[in-house]
Amino acid sequence: MKLQEKVVIVTGAATGIGQAIAIRFAQEGASVVVDYVGKPDAPNETKEKIEVFGGKVIAVEADISKLDEVHRLIDSTVTAFGRLDVVVNNAGIEKKFPFIDYPLEELQKILNVNLIGPFLVCQAAARQMIKQGQGGRLINISSVHEDLPMPTNAAYCASKGGLRMLTRTIALELGKDQITVNNIGPGAVYTPIDADIEAQPEAEKALMAEIPLNRWARPEEIAGLAVYLASDEAGYVTGSTYFIDGGMLRQAGSY
Ligand code: BGC
Repeated sequence: MKLQEKVVIVTGAATGIGQAIAIRFAQEGASVVVDYVGKPDAPNETKEKIEVFGGKVIAVEADISKLDEVHRLIDSTVTAFGRLDVVVNNAGIEKKFPFIDYPLEELQKILNVNLIGPFLVCQAAARQMIKQGQGGRLINISSVHEDLPMPTNAAYCASKGGLRMLTRTIALELGKDQITVNNIGPGAVYTPIDADIEAQPEAEKALMAEIPLNRWARPEEIAGLAVYLASDEAGYVTGSTYFIDGGMLRQAGSY
C-alpha cells in the first residue's frame, strides 16, 4: 500500500475522476475526505464503495470557491484525521458557448470552481502543511485544454490554462517546504462532465477521431498517476503537468 498513514482531500469526489481517485487512495491505505457540493446523499456512493473494504472516509460539503467553506474543509479534515498530507483539486465544471455569446455569469462560475477554488484550497492546505513541517502534495486535475485550444470552450480553456500557471508558480514558492505541486491533464474521460457528447453518437465519433487510442479513458486510468504523485516515491516531482490523453495532444486538429 502506497499511501498508508496519509490524510487526503479529494474535491468533487462524488462522481467521475474524483470518485475513482478517492476509492483508489483509500485502497492504498489513505484516510480520505470526500468533498462535494449538492444534496446530502451526493457522496454516499463514493463513501459506500470505500467503507465496503473497511477504508477510512468522511464526506464534507464545501464549495471550494468560497473561502470560509475551504477553511471549514481543512478544519474538518484535521479534526477527523489529525493532519493533512495530500490534496487533489479535482472539482471542475464546463459549459460551451461561442465566444461571441459567452455569458459573463457562466464565465464567472467556471473560473470560480476551476481556478479560484484550487487557488484557495492549495493556499489553505499549504498553510496547514507548513505548520505540520513534513511537506505535502498538491495535485490539480487540469486537462489537455490547459494547452490545447477548443472552440466554444473559452472559459474552460482559460481556467485550465490558469491552473497550469498556478501550479508552476506555487511549485516554486512551496519547494522550500517540501510541498510538491503537479497537474494531471486528462483527455476525454468517460464521466458526467461529457454527458452531452456521450449522448450524441456523431459528436462522440468526432471526439474519438481526435484520439490515437480511439476510445474514452476510464476514470480509474487517471487514479494510478494520482497515487504515484501523492506517494513518497514522487518526492522529487514538482512543477509539471502529466497528460493522460490517449495521445490526443500529439494529433489534435480542430473540433
Ligand atoms: C473536457 C471534455 C473533453 C476532453 C477532451 C476535457 O477536459 O472536460 O469535455 O471532451 O477534455 O477534449
